[in-house]
Amino acid sequence: MHIEQYEKFFLRLTAVTLVLFFGAIAASALSSQVTLHDPPGRVDPAALSSTPPFDAPGVYERDDGEYEVIMIAQTWSFVPNEVRVPEGSTVHFVMTSRDVTHGFMITGVVANVMLLPGQISHATVRFDRPGEHLIICHEYCGLGHQNMFARIFVERDTRAASSEE
Ligand code: CUA
Repeated sequence: MHIEQYEKFFLRLTAVTLVLFFGAIAASALSSQVTLHDPPGRVDPAALSSTPPFDAPGVYERDDGEYEVIMIAQTWSFVPNEVRVPEGSTVHFVMTSRDVTHGFMITGVVANVMLLPGQISHATVRFDRPGEHLIICHEYCGLGHQNMFARIFVERDTRAASSEE
């Protein structure tokens, strides 16, 4: 097969460019130690009501003073649909979906994950200021999608002054 001289040149240039760019991606990924998340865990979506921790969704204060929220997304609500924590709280959300793919996004902070049936998702958020946030499902999940939300109330912590170390 005959290839024009210029065509050859540009074919080579394309190959070299690709090698350079893939090399740059590989080099930056290795040098900044980019890794995939640890497997966050799996759960049988049909057996949530008998599988800890999802058999008891809710808000729990841990021994270290941080909070854990066990949350289930389902068409078309979050369980629990109200979370109350004091200001300054670090809250660890442990979540999954009971049925279809849902989204989990909290307004006003950086928290944005997908909730997949069978998959456990994590998000950790620190709430520094008192106020109200919405948890919004931002993956289309059916007819009631636009009504699927929950509320987070970050309450002024009266203990803050005394428990400061
Ligand atoms: Cu759940 Cu959209």
